[in-house]
Amino acid sequence: MWKGRFSENTAQAVQKFTQSLDLDWALASYDIDGSIAHARMLGSVGLIPADEARQIEDGLSRIREEIASGALVPAQELEDVHMNIESRLIELLGPTGARLHTGRSRNDQVAVTMRLFLRDRLHRIGSGMDALLAVMLERAARHRDIIVPGFTHLQQAQPISMGHYWMAHFSAFSRDCDRLLFALESLRECPLGAGALAGSTLPLDREMTARELGFARPTRNSLDTVAQRDYMADYHSFAVTFATHCSRLAEDFVIYSSREFGWLLLPDAFCTGSSMMPQKKNPDVLELLRGKTGQILGHFLDLLVTLKGLPMTYDRDLQEDKRGLQASLRTVEDMLAVLVPLLSAVEVDGEKAAEGMNDGFLLATDVAEYLVARGVPFRQAHGMVGGLVKECIARKKGLFDLTRDEWKALLPEAGEDLFPLLSLRSAVERRNTYGGTAFDQVAKQIEEGKTFLESFRESFKR
Ligand code: ARG
Repeated sequence: MWKGRFSENTAQAVQKFTQSLDLDWALASYDIDGSIAHARMLGSVGLIPADEARQIEDGLSRIREEIASGALVPAQELEDVHMNIESRLIELLGPTGARLHTGRSRNDQVAVTMRLFLRDRLHRIGSGMDALLAVMLERAARHRDIIVPGFTHLQQAQPISMGHYWMAHFSAFSRDCDRLLFALESLRECPLGAGALAGSTLPLDREMTARELGFARPTRNSLDTVAQRDYMADYHSFAVTFATHCSRLAEDFVIYSSREFGWLLLPDAFCTGSSMMPQKKNPDVLELLRGKTGQILGHFLDLLVTLKGLPMTYDRDLQEDKRGLQASLRTVEDMLAVLVPLLSAVEVDGEKAAEGMNDGFLLATDVAEYLVARGVPFRQAHGMVGGLVKECIARKKGLFDLTRDEWKALLPEAGEDLFPLLSLRSAVERRNTYGGTAFDQVAKQIEEGKTFLESFRESFKR
């Protein structure tokens, strides 16, 4: 394509090294969408005759089919998807095909191709996130009345509603949805017309190509347009936070479903067995959700390291941006595809969970707050109840095992009105602050969650 200036052919090793077909041939259809919009615009402003613009469009549609059917095989010496398609067009149409690249560079072409591609994939991920949020809401409502231990430092802390626990993950995933929408917003401007870097001497109609391709407007600065990859970074930022949230959830479920905890029940269809130990039911899916998170972070880092230190504007390093992006998208989609049905079949054994809390120590804060309600300064109450727990441990007893006489001896401030409060259910019910674990508060969270999901769906439609 650039023979004019050169007196030697490109070395074979260079062709192999510089080609990007392994990354962009799969994006041919998006490149063709961009080229059709460009050709229509060239026809509309009179830079090429209208009938030739139509021939180009027909030729591109034919090439789209040739690629889909496998009839057109790309040539490595043509470097990338863009030049392979253009070269085939020239083969088909002669000088007419040679008019397509008027006022265009591969630099704005690759930018538009990537944006169109990413826009489609973000929509696909959006449906996955939608399904994920819906499952979380359904599980939260189903398990709202089940009490499980809440942990800090992975040590039992206070009893919580399992619905509250689901809604905690829902909250994290809903922020990921906001980040996904932000990433989609980053794709709303059209690069076409930026040219190689400085725009064009030709009267291109950038508004028209933007409209044709469903963008809100053209990009504002041609140099920035061909240089920037923020829209990829915004996707990666969503992806890495989302994956980290998945990883945390997966880690919890590995622990809660282990024999020693045992109150979280994983569906058989989402576990695997051991080749040697017949009794095993392993949470491999959860472990892989956790395990794949590292790659997602790696792909983000890969992009940022590539960008760091690049001079304005386009540099060939940018060609490598596609590798991690595509790998990350695939992994995120794979994760969603398995996470959603897995969660929809997770069950909770409330009795088993209660067994693990039957020493009653999770209610120590409740006892301290009971004392506070009777006028004892909190720090003092904390010390008194700490002493009570210490004594219980020495006597190998739980709070629930103390007799009324023992209570009277160990904590004389405890009146009869304390005892009705000393149940897991009452402990949950009474944490009735906004956003707290009380069953009514969880119901409120679920309602708010439903509203969020509706508005997420609406913004995705736009
Ligand atoms: N294959 C290249 C890429 O993906 C296309 C742009 C090449 N531009 C250039 N000036 N060499 O980035």
